[in-house]
Amino acid sequence: MADIQEILIDDTAIAEKVREIAARISADYAGKELVLICILKGAAVFTADLMRHLSIPVTVEFVQAASYGASTTSSKKISVEKYGEIDISGKHALFVDTIIDTGETMAVLFSAFAGRGPASLKAVTLLDKRSRRTANVSIGYSGFEIPDKFVVGYGMDYEEKHRNLPYIAVIKTTR
Ligand code: IMP
Ligand code: MG
Repeated sequence: MADIQEILIDDTAIAEKVREIAARISADYAGKELVLICILKGAAVFTADLMRHLSIPVTVEFVQAASYGASTTSSKKISVEKYGEIDISGKHALFVDTIIDTGETMAVLFSAFAGRGPASLKAVTLLDKRSRRTANVSIGYSGFEIPDKFVVGYGMDYEEKHRNLPYIAVIKTTR
């Protein structure tokens, strides 16, 4: 594909990591009431894979978080949509995202849900661009730490494209 620069993580490596994370979550939440909260759109693919590898009962909810502004950097204006009716009171809530960059999106979500009386509130991410973190959020489960490069595929987009790629790739951009 023309604007793909290099494959960073192939489908086999992703699948292996998803299984590993799912095993850890299954062990940690055994006997607890777990709610996965998928952060649309980017986490749709990861959530679908992750939930199918959990060996414990789970429910799934969806929120939409969007930062408006530049397309390859996260702007700090983050809006959360479609979360009005989600009830996490007394339950163990786990946000699912494919990538944590500055952490600002996750910080906004944590503060939006913290007051809803969850038994616990954590996050799982497949990719972590730790060097870019500006928000003070603690991530419960993180798959791969990656360098500060803009990636697409496995649910992640550049201008809404490439979400369908089964691997994670670095894209050619002029960041
Ligand atoms: P944060 O608020 O800076 O942590 O940004 C998190 C969100 O930005 C993710 O949920 C993605 O939607 C998007 N994002 C951050 N880095 C990338 C990337 O390299 N590729 C695609 N989307 C990204
Ligand atoms: Mg995006």
